[in-house]
Amino acid sequence: MNWQTGPRKIDHLKLAATENVEYGDPLFNDVTLIHESAPETNLNDIETGVNFLGKKLKYPFMIVGMTGGIEEAKQINRDLAKVAENLGIGFGVGSQRAMLEKPEVWNTYYVRKEAPRTLVVGNIGLAQLDDYSIDKILQAVKKIDADALAVHMNPAQEAIQPEGDWNFKDKIAKIKPITGKLPVIAKETGAGVSREIAIKLRSSGVKAVDVGGYGGTNWVLIEAMRQGEPTPFVDWGIPTAASILEVAPIIPVIATGGIRTGLDAAKAMGLGASLVGIGLPTLRWYMAGGRENVEANLMRIIHEFKVAMFLTGSNNIRELRETNLVITGKLREWCLARGIDIMHFANRETGKAVF
Ligand SMILES: Cc1cc2nc3c(=O)[nH]c(=O)nc-3n(C[C@H](O)[C@H](O)[C@H](O)COP(=O)(O)O)c2cc1C
Repeated sequence: MNWQTGPRKIDHLKLAATENVEYGDPLFNDVTLIHESAPETNLNDIETGVNFLGKKLKYPFMIVGMTGGIEEAKQINRDLAKVAENLGIGFGVGSQRAMLEKPEVWNTYYVRKEAPRTLVVGNIGLAQLDDYSIDKILQAVKKIDADALAVHMNPAQEAIQPEGDWNFKDKIAKIKPITGKLPVIAKETGAGVSREIAIKLRSSGVKAVDVGGYGGTNWVLIEAMRQGEPTPFVDWGIPTAASILEVAPIIPVIATGGIRTGLDAAKAMGLGASLVGIGLPTLRWYMAGGRENVEANLMRIIHEFKVAMFLTGSNNIRELRETNLVITGKLREWCLARGIDIMHFANRETGKAVF
């Protein structure tokens, strides 16, 4: 099992922070937002606020779960959460498995002091639903005062590890009892979510899906590096842009996996996402220049996002989510094969003047 306590967790953090562990194409280059040469918008007045899982966010962004459980993680989580609070975006902690095993490490995840108002998301793996009682899991979420729980699904990463968790049978059914107690986000970690899985997740009461698509941080590659063995499965997964298209008609989507610019983020929203998530880059900015550097870089991305809203004539997030866009290349082929209507995305009734 991954993202656990001890040396492997440190290995992951070190490898992710220092090696080139991003791999693949999330297919945002196959999406073109249609430019408006005289947009009915004022860049200074664009409204970017959203409500997500009962929380008001200033921008539809979140820093997604990465760390916790080890001493090194405490300050990272607190500093990243402070940035999230300052900017008015969401924040997720890394897998709380370590905390289930050793409750005393709870404070490496606790960020409510730094983020009193914004959305804070806890995190466990599907495997922990077998190993720990629902009560114990709920207690772990309550202890850090999180608003919701992300349950991560990472079968590709597990499958290439000799000591991985190879049994994913009946796992989704195990989410259901938790969904009655608090909002649950089902979350992939780099291989994307399909429409068929989204339907099952919705039936089990999950409130949102973080698609964690292919084309950003690549956990198969990270495990292959740790093991010193190459694997063809570095190419495995549903590209993030395709996964958004698959899942957004079914359940609210957090678009994570290779979002690297504000333009990627705007495209993700245009494809149907409700929020976008950024992982590895925030850790890298943190290592390179601390909290201020993370904040500056996220502000740059948010500015790019607003420029894309301006240039598509989107005054608010609802309008951005309806903006017209053209899907080409591999993403187009994906859509054709999966029955996704690309004409719809290019010719939406946007409420903007048409003549
Ligand atoms: C160092 C690191 C640790 C991570 N740990 C977790 C974790 O504990 N739980 C989880 O659900 N996802 C974890 N992830 C996956 C991220 O939440 C995210 O899904 C993935 O990195 C894709 O986003 P990105 O391309 O912006 O990095 C981790 C990612 C990184 C880079």
